[in-house]
Amino acid sequence: PNGHLADSLGRPLRDLRISVTDRCNFRCSYCMPKDVFDKSYRFLPHGALLSFEEITRLARVFVAHGVQKIRLTGGEPLLRKDLERLIAMLADLRTVDGQPLDLTLTTNGSLLARKAQALKQAGLRRITVSLDAMDDGVFRRMNDVDFPVAEVLRGLEAAERAGLGPIKINMVVKRGTNDQEILPMARHFRGTPMVLRFIEYMDVGATNRWRLDDVLPSAEVVRRIDCEHPLQPLSAAREGETAQRWAYRDGGGEIGVISSVTQAFCRDCNRARLSTEGQLFLCLFAHQGHDLRALLRSGASDAQLAGTLAAIWQGRDDRYSELRGALDAAPATAAAAAPRVEMHYIGG
Ligand code: GTP
Ligand code: 5AD
Ligand code: SF4
Ligand code: SF4
Repeated sequence: PNGHLADSLGRPLRDLRISVTDRCNFRCSYCMPKDVFDKSYRFLPHGALLSFEEITRLARVFVAHGVQKIRLTGGEPLLRKDLERLIAMLADLRTVDGQPLDLTLTTNGSLLARKAQALKQAGLRRITVSLDAMDDGVFRRMNDVDFPVAEVLRGLEAAERAGLGPIKINMVVKRGTNDQEILPMARHFRGTPMVLRFIEYMDVGATNRWRLDDVLPSAEVVRRIDCEHPLQPLSAAREGETAQRWAYRDGGGEIGVISSVTQAFCRDCNRARLSTEGQLFLCLFAHQGHDLRALLRSGASDAQLAGTLAAIWQGRDDRYSELRGALDAAPATAAAAAPRVEMHYIGG
């Protein structure tokens, strides 16, 4: 491995998203609707999960192939027992250029007040927190477990104190559900070092009953904020970034919009996803993964793992959001209509 791997569309491998649990203590309707993820839902049994040693071994192979950023996801990653131990193991890895990894995680923030300090000490560099409303009633309805917004805000403070910044805030915008929260959210985070990002509601998985009518296009988000606080576009900080960045003209910081429905960003997509049970997915909207756990547990050598990963990545041609076409959600083929991987399973 030399870090110069490219897929069939010329895209490098730079970003690895590792899901460490399929469980979550929230039931956001756009991700784990309560009627599907109820008491009878069968989450993965413990033996199916990759161990921290297995995750780290795979991560080392990915890093040798050029990965520079590792993001831990879930479900809710902070529910995984002893997560700090995994973070410490991953923090020891170095990129092919000898640099530390950009090691981060995406969390719902519910356990952050308790855990921020320990996460930082273990070697986590920064975090992203999902937060869909400032209004307590709207927030409680969106997480659908009556979780108070004040506790997430306490978590954000703890994370800032612990030095886990610059923190990013992810708000999934659903028209008619929380779009009235766009301006209150913008006002709250304006003038802070935290970067608020608005995410178009995506048609991931099969359980959230996505409808195009529920999507509020990012252009409309930018328009609404720009009316109150003028914005100007910023250039991308990194190649293959998910968000388009905008700065407040008066120096109040920046926001981002992630427009995978109205403006696909597959062209530079350098992200691979490893599921909780060790399936490698080449796209958020993939129907199927590649079973790396079976390979690991059959006694494959590091060289064999590296060779397999290279072959899988080199064959990659996924670009789901582009193919779907901007605003046409109808699956074009039977294959496209087949069940897709669920968000709580692959971590977004
Ligand atoms: P940063 O490195 O901090 O910019 O993070 P990120 O934007 O790569 O990851 P994050 O977990 O914050 O994801 C933000 C939103 O973008 C979530 O809704 C993700 O599901 C979505 N997202 C991330 N990567 C992809 C992708 O490759 N394709 C699509 N369609 N959506 C993505
Ligand atoms: N569309 C867009 N974003 C989603 N997320 C979860 N489900 C969806 C969806 N259907 C977001 C979470 C988290 C990130 C990893 O993905 O809110 O911020
Ligand atoms: Fe949990 Fe995040 Fe899914 Fe909400 S979006 S149910 S917090 S994993
Ligand atoms: Fe990458 Fe697939 Fe998302 Fe396109 S839809 S940006 S290929 S993960």
